[in-house]
Amino acid sequence: MSVIFPKWMNALPTLGAMASVGGLLTVVVGTWYWATPDFFKVGYSPIQPGSGFNHQIHAGKLGMDCRYCHTKIEQSPEANIPNVATCYGCHAPQRVNGSISLATDQKVQFIRDAYDGDKPIEWRRVHKLPDYVRNFPHDVHLSAGVSCYSCHGQIVSMPQVYEAKGLGMGFCLDCHRHPETAIVPKDKVTDLLWVQGELTARAKGEGTVNTQELLGRLWNTPPQQCGACHQ
Ligand code: HEC
Ligand code: HEC
Ligand code: HEC
Ligand code: HEC
Ligand code: HEC
Repeated sequence: MSVIFPKWMNALPTLGAMASVGGLLTVVVGTWYWATPDFFKVGYSPIQPGSGFNHQIHAGKLGMDCRYCHTKIEQSPEANIPNVATCYGCHAPQRVNGSISLATDQKVQFIRDAYDGDKPIEWRRVHKLPDYVRNFPHDVHLSAGVSCYSCHGQIVSMPQVYEAKGLGMGFCLDCHRHPETAIVPKDKVTDLLWVQGELTARAKGEGTVNTQELLGRLWNTPPQQCGACHQ
């Protein structure tokens, strides 16, 4: 054996082990820092109460604007979820004889029960940043021309909302360093199909928007210093 394998080679397994531990550490730290949270959260989609709420039907097929329900999103850091009265406006029993079918009638009974009982529907939260991240501002992003599409994916084709992007720190910073990849005219932020088309074309260098002009109109450059997002 010793003739075939020179003595220095005995060190190889140790070196190999050290190298792979080092490599593993890099991977573990790198993953912890940039990717783990995303990896665990992408696809998260809790079961909602009753028959749930279908964005594909309401925002897609029926073409309702996001702001019909998420009414305060341009004025407030938080995105509000609509109350039962908003749903009841279309799903009250007397509205059934119009275009809404009997099958739909049964599916919306939970809305009427909540409305009659004066109770909220307990929608389950899909997107949630950890507490050590300071108040995330929806209003600032929307007025800067960042679309819901960039952070929540193609909501209008989701029968049940799921977390499309991990919303981890690397995700935030990638855009803060390169806002030109995502920025659109302010009046297009809730037109998710248009935005998807534009951003897909832009990635191929075929976008139609003058991004330099839009960036020039920003109040501030997107922050990268820790204090902007952490206490
Ligand atoms: C008819 C009302 C209505 C409209 C229109 C609507 N939504 Fe919603 N949205 C809801 C309700 C109710 C929920 C809570 C239930 C759920 O998560 O599916 C919700 C949840 C969401 C969530 C997940 C919230 C969380 O818990 O993290 C996102 C993201 C969202 N909506 C984005 C949009 C976007 C983008 C549009 C426009 C393309 C839109 N919504 C249009 C009613 C609406
Ligand atoms: C502007 C009117 C309007 C509002 C507001 C509205 N809906 Fe609807 N909804 C409809 C219509 C129209 C249909 C039937 C669509 C179809 O059959 O293709 C429907 C269908 C549904 C269905 C059955 C579809 C399915 O298969 O899942 C549910 C459940 C429902 N809506 C829940 C809600 C909830 C919850 C809200 C409030 C957050 C709400 N809707 C607000 C118009 C509305
Ligand atoms: C720059 C990224 C970004 C954009 C753009 C964005 N969101 Fe969000 N959204 C988030 C993050 C991050 C959260 C979780 C916030 C938290 O935990 O404080 C969230 C949460 C939500 C929630 C849940 C709020 C709650 O309290 O239950 C809704 C609803 C929502 N967004 C809707 C929208 C709609 C509609 C648009 C477009 C009009 C939009 N968002 C644009 C990143 C974004
Ligand atoms: C797709 C692009 C994009 C993504 C993703 C994004 N941002 Fe931003 N963000 C911007 C832009 C553009 C601005 C600059 C807005 C301005 O000042 O006009 C901004 C500004 C901010 C500000 C400063 C607000 C102020 O009052 O000046 C905070 C805080 C912030 N973002 C937090 C976040 C967090 C946290 C995330 C991840 C969950 C995130 N952003 C994801 C584009 C993005
Ligand atoms: C644009 C907003 C933003 C800025 C700027 C930012 N962070 Fe974060 N950071 C986040 C978000 C969002 C998370 C939550 C990730 C998640 O979902 O777990 C986070 C998570 C973290 C974590 C927990 C580990 C992890 O990735 O989950 C540490 C540590 C951290 N940040 C440190 C820093 C330091 C140090 C700086 C300055 C160099 C900084 N952050 C700047 C948004 C930001």
